[in-house]
Amino acid sequence: MESIIELKNVSKEFKILNRHEGVKGSIKDLFSRDYKIVNAVNDISMTINKGEIVGYLGPNGAGKSTTIKMMTGVLEPSSGEILCNGVIPYKKRSENAQNIGVVFGQRSQLWWSLPVVESFKILKDIYQVPDKDYNDMMELYSSIVDMENLLHKPVRQMSLGQRTLCDILAAFIHNPAVVFLDEPTIGLDVAMKAKIRELVKTLNHEKNTTVILTTHDMGDVDALCKRIVIIDKGKMLFDNDIEHLSELFGAYRTLILSLNKKGTKCDEEHMKKLSDDVLSLLSEEFSDTSAFSLSFADDKTEILIDESKTSVVKVLNAVQKKYKIYDMHLQDISTESVIRKIYEGGI
Ligand SMILES: Nc1ncnc2c1ncn2[C@@H]1O[C@H](COP(=O)(O)OP(=O)(O)O)[C@@H](O)[C@H]1O
Ligand SMILES: [Mg+2]
Repeated sequence: MESIIELKNVSKEFKILNRHEGVKGSIKDLFSRDYKIVNAVNDISMTINKGEIVGYLGPNGAGKSTTIKMMTGVLEPSSGEILCNGVIPYKKRSENAQNIGVVFGQRSQLWWSLPVVESFKILKDIYQVPDKDYNDMMELYSSIVDMENLLHKPVRQMSLGQRTLCDILAAFIHNPAVVFLDEPTIGLDVAMKAKIRELVKTLNHEKNTTVILTTHDMGDVDALCKRIVIIDKGKMLFDNDIEHLSELFGAYRTLILSLNKKGTKCDEEHMKKLSDDVLSLLSEEFSDTSAFSLSFADDKTEILIDESKTSVVKVLNAVQKKYKIYDMHLQDISTESVIRKIYEGGI
């Protein structure tokens, strides 16, 4: 496979002022040498191949946007090397811009008061897109999105979802080799999320565009990404195909129990107490308390069981000693809980 983006031991440090409080403090800050260093990105290496859709995941503040800003040339790495389509992004910003498209969720790059078609035409000129390529692209867009409804609408009159859709279309207009989507579905409703996933999927497929996607929505990941990269505190935690993620936690299953009689008031306080009681019951039964963890959702008690350490039946038997079980389900661990476990340092 042909690689298109290459990161070698990339780090980014920010120097930030330690602020002091009050008016005196702000005056002090003016002269302060009291800095602290934030390692926003810490020794990340990865190779991204042509045509891949990579989910770039991690909790808030993990360093995702900073990495993207370095790959797009907005920021210079503190150390390490980046090549995007053979170009060092921050050194050749305009050359790099020809090769990439960028969408930062909730920050539009479109001209606010112009009908969106005018924005598209300006972008066509900026990137010197030949007429035929432009028309072909518009035709492809029309086959996925109801363009008639959008093209003549000024961006300021659009819903957030329509605007995001247009921002994504704008990012693909010059048929770039790579498109970066930073939280594109944030704040959107289910239908618009589905539309955006379809759009990205189709464009990736038709144009073999490489897509780097950051998102907190596991629906986006499931719909689009074969490979995911997870970072936290600037460090790489995981880089592999998504099915390997579940393999890592193949021994886990979730037992979902209804332990409440119908009509019981299951407010959060009640459920919390119930979960605590179940947890102490299980802790008495099992010496290895790392074999399970508890949570609650609505009126259900959920027990995540590590089957390499104990069995579902044993857990059920233990619970039954004290509780009547009104209903039960068994569920394989979801991608979302796997990722949550990784965030919590479960690997
Ligand atoms: N311009 C900046 N100046 C100082 N610190 C920054 C700057 N940009 C980001 N950071 C810090 O770097 C870390 C990573 O931020 P970011 O890349 O935005 O994370 P993410 O996109 O994963 O939420 C955070 O601790 C953030 O506060
Ligand atoms: Mg971010």
